Order: sequence, then structure tokens, then C-alpha cells
Amino acid sequence: MNADYANVPSPCFVLEEARLRENLTLLGRVQDESGAKVILALKGFALFNTFPLIRARLPGCTVSSPHELRLAREEFGGEIHACAPVYRDEEMDEYLASVSHISFNSLSQWSRFKSRVNARVGRVSPGIRVNPEHSEVGTALYDPARPGSRLGVTADELDGRLPDGMEGLHFHTLCECGADALARTWTKVEERFGPALQQAKWLNLGGGHLITREGYDVDGLIDLIRDIRARYDVEVFLEPGAAVVWRTGVLVSSVLDRIERRGVRTLMLDVSFAAHMPDCLEMPYKPEVRGARDPAPDETGWRLGGTTCLAGDELGAYVFEQDPDIGARIVFEDMMHYTVVKTTLFNGVPHPSLGLLRADGTFELLRQFGYEDYRNRLGGNPLGS
Ligand SMILES: Cc1ncc(COP(=O)(O)O)c(C=O)c1O
Repeated sequence: MNADYANVPSPCFVLEEARLRENLTLLGRVQDESGAKVILALKGFALFNTFPLIRARLPGCTVSSPHELRLAREEFGGEIHACAPVYRDEEMDEYLASVSHISFNSLSQWSRFKSRVNARVGRVSPGIRVNPEHSEVGTALYDPARPGSRLGVTADELDGRLPDGMEGLHFHTLCECGADALARTWTKVEERFGPALQQAKWLNLGGGHLITREGYDVDGLIDLIRDIRARYDVEVFLEPGAAVVWRTGVLVSSVLDRIERRGVRTLMLDVSFAAHMPDCLEMPYKPEVRGARDPAPDETGWRLGGTTCLAGDELGAYVFEQDPDIGARIVFEDMMHYTVVKTTLFNGVPHPSLGLLRADGTFELLRQFGYEDYRNRLGGNPLGS
């Protein structure tokens, strides 16, 4: 495959199999050496054609909605954990028929569903999501431990102990963090939930561990988990999303037009930040673009313009090795986590195709999207028919 992805239809998300395999090897080592189980958080990545590959190394996934639950059951297999902010009455039987572990986000939800969970004793293990009220994430939008958060029961609500019938503890407060952030969080969890930990059979450390990022202290994580397991005699789970597919693929796009107005040069693309890379605007962050860099103070560079009509659907500036012409490929790096799962069909702009770059260099087109995908989201039978 050429580095410019000339043979890939544009726009297209392209997952690179070789890189996914590398990440899975590292996550496999974490499992083998720490004794923890690493499960995939489907909210971060759910390109199900890759599930057989992931399933060969990771034993299951974690889900937060009925559709994720069904995808896990039908496409992934293995053990399924559920951790949703809230469950509906009519969903619970489906969850309980498929999951091995289920975490509740409030004591009222636990008392609502307790008898139904207890009827599955031995098959489904219930746990409580706790909030250590310790923040490691700077952006409030991504910080479940922010003041007044709706996510996770606080220590004073729990009175330190596990609610009657509960077997596990779950916490998730990290996002793209290192092992040092986990260690600091763990100190707070121990401080605030010590008696509950003594009672627990299992402990889920949530996601946000960016284990596959260069420089992550993998041995530090392994040591911490081994220590937790030894001291509390609990089964430990990690449920990363981003780390599984960190730097495993790109979004290939093309330049459709070049505009220059009042000294601002914009490359108009066939992708949208709002519809296809929403974290760029929400977080916000500036993605890496292949062959491009940030402008020096005396340079202007190119702004990248998205294809929707939203005024803010743009990003930049970038300086390219060669100024891109109309038709040139613009390749966004690291576009597998929280992209494909979050895209919308806003404005009816074409949704990027999905593709796989095989380890042997061959490209496989997995899915293309068309008008029916757009239309089907927007209505049913005509009124009055
Ligand atoms: C409960 C829970 N577990 C796991 C994850 C996965 O986190 P990440 O993709 O940052 O590893 C999330 C992400 O929001 C989450 O809310």
C-alpha cells in the first residue's frame, strides 16, 4: 500500500491489521503477567470485522447499551460485562441472559433490579460503579469524577461497604492516562472504599489506560495489578477502548477545492470534523496529518475545511511538505477510536467507507454507505398513507 493511499476509495476509515496485532500482543502480555483480564469497551471501537482477531487475544467485551450487548453476543462472543449509567426495565432480561458481570450506577437502580439479578445467582455477578471523586482528566466533558458527576456512587452513599448481594466494584475515571494516574486514583479508591474492597470478589479498573501509547509504564501497571490481586484476593478487569486500537488506522480523505479569503487558505475536504471526527471539535484536539506539521510563527499554512455547512466544521492550520492540489489525499492519523462509533449522517454528507489494510499489504473494502443509510435514520412510512 502506498503511503498516500491512492488505491483506497475516498473518504475511508482504514484499519491496519499489523498495528492492531501489535497492540493485542502488548495487551496479551499485560493479561499474562498481571493476571487481570482485559476486555474491549465497545463504545470506543466496534468495527466488528476485526472481532475474531481481537477475540483471539482478549476474552470479551464490555457494553453499555442493548445494541452493544447484541453486537457483543453475536459478533464477539466470550464474556460480556455491562456497565451502563442507567438500565430500563424492559432491557434487563436481555442483559441478564447474556452478561457474566453487571455494574449498577446507583443504589436505586440496584434495588430496582436486585431480585431479577439474584434470580441468576451464580451466572451473573452484580457490582457497583463507584466514584473515587479524584480527577485525573483535565477536560470536564471527559471527567467522570468531576464535582456532582452522575457517574458512580460516592463513598458516603455506600457507607464504605458493598450493598447486600453485590460482589464487585467498578470505577472508571481515566481517559488517555498513564499508569501513574491509575496509581493515584487507586490510592483514593483504597482510602474511600477499603471495607467494600475487602468484601469484593472482583474489581473493574475501567478504561482510560492508554497502555499501547509509547512510554506507558506497562511494568508499573502489571506490578500494581499484581499487588491489588495479592492484597484483596479479587479478580481484576481492565476495560480499555482507545488503547486497543491506538494508532491502528487512518481516515483517508481528499481535497475537493482550495479557497483563499482575506489571507486564509482553506483546503475543502470530502470529510467532516463535525460528522466524522467529532472529538476534534468536542475535546477539542488537532489530529496529526500525514506529511504535515504545525506552522512556524511566521507561516500561515492551510486550514482544513469540512464538507458540512457548519461554520465551525474546520481545523488547522497545517503546513504540508508540498501544497496539496485538488484531488490530493489528506490522511488523518490515529482515527480508529471514538470515530467510527461516533460518526453521524448530518447534512447528508457521504459517510466514509470502512476498509482493512491486511498485514500482507492488500486492501479490503468492508462497507460503503449510501442514500438508504441516510434516509433510514430520518423517518418511516409517509404520513397519511
Ligand atoms: C465505563 C467505561 N469503561 C470503559 C471505557 C473505555 O475508555 P477508553 O476508551 O478511554 O479506554 C469508557 C469510556 O468512556 C467507559 O465509560
